[in-house]
Amino acid sequence: SAQNTTEHWRPAVHFSPKKNWTNDPNGLIYFKGYYHVFFQHNPKGNEWGNMSWGHARSKDLLHWEELPIAIPHGEEFIFSGCVVWDKNHVSGLGEPNKDLLVAIYTADYPNKKQEQHLAYSNDEGLTWKKYGHNPILDIQLLNFRDPNIIWHEASKQYVMSVAKPLERSVQFYGSKNLLAWDLLSEFSNQGELEMIWECPSLVELPIEGRENESKWVLFNSSQGVQKGFVGMQYFVGEFNGKTFINENSSDTKLFVDFGKDFYAAIPFYNTQEKEVLWLAWALSWQYAKEQPTFPWKGQMSSVRKLSLVDSQEGLRLKQVFQPDFSQWEPTFQAKDISISKPKILNGMKMLQGKSYVIDVEVEETNADRWGFRWQSVDNPQEYTLVAFDENKKQWFIDRSHSGKVLSPGFFKLDSAPWVEGRPRQMRVWVDHSMIELLAQDGTVAISSLRFPVSSKENLSIFSEKGKLDLKQITIWEVK
Ligand code: FRU
Repeated sequence: SAQNTTEHWRPAVHFSPKKNWTNDPNGLIYFKGYYHVFFQHNPKGNEWGNMSWGHARSKDLLHWEELPIAIPHGEEFIFSGCVVWDKNHVSGLGEPNKDLLVAIYTADYPNKKQEQHLAYSNDEGLTWKKYGHNPILDIQLLNFRDPNIIWHEASKQYVMSVAKPLERSVQFYGSKNLLAWDLLSEFSNQGELEMIWECPSLVELPIEGRENESKWVLFNSSQGVQKGFVGMQYFVGEFNGKTFINENSSDTKLFVDFGKDFYAAIPFYNTQEKEVLWLAWALSWQYAKEQPTFPWKGQMSSVRKLSLVDSQEGLRLKQVFQPDFSQWEPTFQAKDISISKPKILNGMKMLQGKSYVIDVEVEETNADRWGFRWQSVDNPQEYTLVAFDENKKQWFIDRSHSGKVLSPGFFKLDSAPWVEGRPRQMRVWVDHSMIELLAQDGTVAISSLRFPVSSKENLSIFSEKGKLDLKQITIWEVK
């Protein structure tokens, strides 16, 4: 192809395939020192098609090693799914004295049917054998997909969540051996219903500040075209081994991330100390095909650690970037800074073209709006804002002047409401085309891609029509 490569937009420490298309992360699992990411992949092209599972792994969640295609498509496309460790060889598959990983995913027979299939690996996920007696679950539907499995200790069974997308419903199935699955219950007709439901997952999250307390959370992804949509939602409640009970009213809508580029996230299986970590596809179906990157299309979000916290409106999801930069030696730190006009951070020049995390905590302010502004050195018309609007009480990312604007829906401001009772603080991770904002101690998330045309930019802190007093500002280079 004569097309130019766009390596300047490739994230340095977020995963992207060397070449060709990716969408959802699949089969996230921590196993023997590695975090494994499988992913929806077209091995032959830079557009959706030939869906197979690609594979990458990392020891530190920052440096990723891409491995050969894990599960190639046949007559069936290999859609999204999960990987579990069959620790006690309950499935009886593979070699009895070797570790056994089991992948359960959707086999898509285009325009015919979607069934749940199984494959297994005896070499830590490098190569997979498709099970000889697939499907393991088939209810004769055209749309029935994205199985995600946990081990439910209290009822001593594996529990699968799987979506009936058109019906906005999640079914739960139980199994003792990963091969035979019995329907437990169905959850539907609650929360955001406008768009189809995909990629469900069920997980138990600790409640911060309340010792030994936890709740069950059900996630799903909802894609919409042209609607004022948010990609992922969650429900908080109880799971008793059979039914998930939403503790909020059925019309309560809780959203994971208010950017357009956080979709199809699922938790890692088998993490240490029961930490719940996840990552997402950092794109949106709205304009995924138009993403101007080459020779790859699609990249993953940061890894985030999940918990629940109290807010004045009830329990809310909290997400913390992993690794936890608060434990790192800062590249730069300053305390007690007062700002009344845009202040260019000159020290940022050395971070030009690098990946970094920047954190500010506000002491007090009487400004209308305050936050960060990245501005092209050569073209003042090109800038990106990540900020808080004190009048509207909204966090936002404005990429309408960030460079290449994709259509449709790309230019609209991505904004998230203030969460009452949480600090005035924000942490932003910049990694080339990726911007992720986690504000108010991780209870607000906005993830947005941008495609700057110019390569040199200044970063300034601004405060409009008033003063901004910062407790501190901290920057970590991530490499
Ligand atoms: C979500 C999704 C899944 C499906 C996969 C196909 O982005 O539509 O429901 O399994 O992508 O690539």
